[in-house]
Amino acid sequence: MFKITTIPGDGIGKEVMKPTLEILETINAQFDFIPQEAGAECFKKYGTNLPAETINSCKNSDSTLFGAVTSIPEQKSAIVTLRKELDLYINQRPIKSYTNPNINFTIIRENSEGLYSHLEEDYGNESIAIRKITHKASERICDYAFEYALKTNQKKVTAAHKANVLPLTDGVFKKAFYNMSKKYPNLTANDYYIDAMAMYLITNPSQFDVIVTTNLFGDILSDEGGGLLGSLGLIPSANIGKNNGLFEPVHGSAPDIAGLNKANPIAMVLSSCLMLEFLNMHEEAKNIQNIIESIIKEGKIKTPDLGGTNSTQDMCDEIIRKL
Ligand code: NAI
Ligand code: MG
Repeated sequence: MFKITTIPGDGIGKEVMKPTLEILETINAQFDFIPQEAGAECFKKYGTNLPAETINSCKNSDSTLFGAVTSIPEQKSAIVTLRKELDLYINQRPIKSYTNPNINFTIIRENSEGLYSHLEEDYGNESIAIRKITHKASERICDYAFEYALKTNQKKVTAAHKANVLPLTDGVFKKAFYNMSKKYPNLTANDYYIDAMAMYLITNPSQFDVIVTTNLFGDILSDEGGGLLGSLGLIPSANIGKNNGLFEPVHGSAPDIAGLNKANPIAMVLSSCLMLEFLNMHEEAKNIQNIIESIIKEGKIKTPDLGGTNSTQDMCDEIIRKL
């Protein structure tokens, strides 16, 4: 029996979590779901967007499923704090199109430092955010990226950075990347400046297998991946550390469509597949991924982001019917 903390959060986070749990209950797996709260609604109720009970539950579970939360200026980001508390230093985001074979790459985003270190200070007339880049974190994320490429039979790892303008921080990242590449002589290693990278993702995405980058750049490139596929509602992610994993869609709480039963649940369902893989339930993960691929290829059931008129629940029902 696996203990799974579930944090639906706010907005469409709640709407995509519900069908995902229905799907997981359909497969032959033993899960003990432990619902916990976080986000803006949680803040209204308890005065905190991330109660200690939620953090402890994640720490004591085999994995966490996270929907999405609405950010509030009064509080530090709940998801960034959770990543830190659970030491989830890897953020893995597969960008795979089921209809265009040219788009199939994985972003490995450094998840513990960079501009997400919560080191922001207000000095009255000026404010400063510290972008912290360490040798240790750069090396461990680059090592993971090469290891991941090897494990998944891919040929190339590409680093994205801005070492021309930020030689002391991204210089460290770039150096760690090429040092680590020596351990993997059978893999090709190359790098691009982040601005050029943003363009190549659109003009020539088939050149990429694995992309490794710092925290903010990885966040931005992931949403660009959503643009490439036509919707953020298709992109899952895994936050992984040594002892724990938290799985969440790349998208946020989408207030523009919240409450309308319109959200595409696929990103959340695919995130739960990444959790199944993490828990070594590879067959179950593959089965659900194949079903999603077939639904997208058939194109009969489509939520509005994919150009259709079906609801979140319709998509969920179709996945369960095929299961
Ligand atoms: P967003 O990702 O929530 O939405 C961006 C756009 O994509 C919107 O047009 C939305 O309708 C669309 N979209 C997102 N997910 C979709 C889905 N599953 N199906 C169909 N369409 C989808 O980003 P936005 O609007 O910038 O942020 C909204 C709130 O979410 C903010 O408070 C932000 O801070 C928070 N946020 C939270 C994240 C998290 O919990 N991990 C991640 C990103 C943003
Ligand atoms: Mg993001």
